[in-house]
Amino acid sequence: MKTNALLAFFFFLVSLFASARADFVRDSDGHLVSNGGTYYIMPQYCTVAAIVGASIQNPDDSCSLAVVEMLSHNIGNATLIESKVVAAHITTDYPLQISFNPLPSNPCTKHSQWLVTMDEDFKQKAVMVGDTSAFDNPVSSRFYFRAYDSRRHLYKLVFGLDPYRCGEIAVKTDGYNNKRLIVAEEQDVPLVFTLVKKSGDGAASHISMVV
Ligand SMILES: *[C@@H]1O[C@H](CO)[C@@H](O)[C@H](O)[C@H]1NC(C)=O
Repeated sequence: MKTNALLAFFFFLVSLFASARADFVRDSDGHLVSNGGTYYIMPQYCTVAAIVGASIQNPDDSCSLAVVEMLSHNIGNATLIESKVVAAHITTDYPLQISFNPLPSNPCTKHSQWLVTMDEDFKQKAVMVGDTSAFDNPVSSRFYFRAYDSRRHLYKLVFGLDPYRCGEIAVKTDGYNNKRLIVAEEQDVPLVFTLVKKSGDGAASHISMVV
């Protein structure tokens, strides 16, 4: 009995510790981010920047779709945010799959999944879009959200083996003047953003609950 009580207390402590670090992710309106919801990733420090898919020319004349920050008054290209964890809402502990939804029209790929590859030309681990088999050096880790300023619903995207051993996703200009999303090394500026829910995406059910 006594051992059981001790064990229970131990697991209670572990769960306290674990839950103290994980947090629900909230969108720009303060609503919980849905597992399987569609959101725009909106850069915070520049009101005229958007996250979009852009075609990048490869040395062999083929092209690849990269994820870039672009100066634009447009809201950018929406992303589907999903976790395999069976849960309705995303937390900062859940590994994420991110994909463009819909895929921006491009001549390079029909796959909308975001992935990270070592870009030999750019010499950076860069965020790309497509089928892993189309890339020479895909990195098999996961995206996570990391709270930056919870009160203002600001987050960073990180990439790694688990939420606490991750590189931050940052913005860095490549040799062709594209502001690419990359896995940060020192001195790279992390991307800080808020998630803006795509209107029409589950918003109707939210409104009908109020009625
Ligand atoms: C992606 O973003 C670009 C640049 O703002 C825009 O022109 C294009 O219509 C967007 N495509 C989709 C599918 O959202």
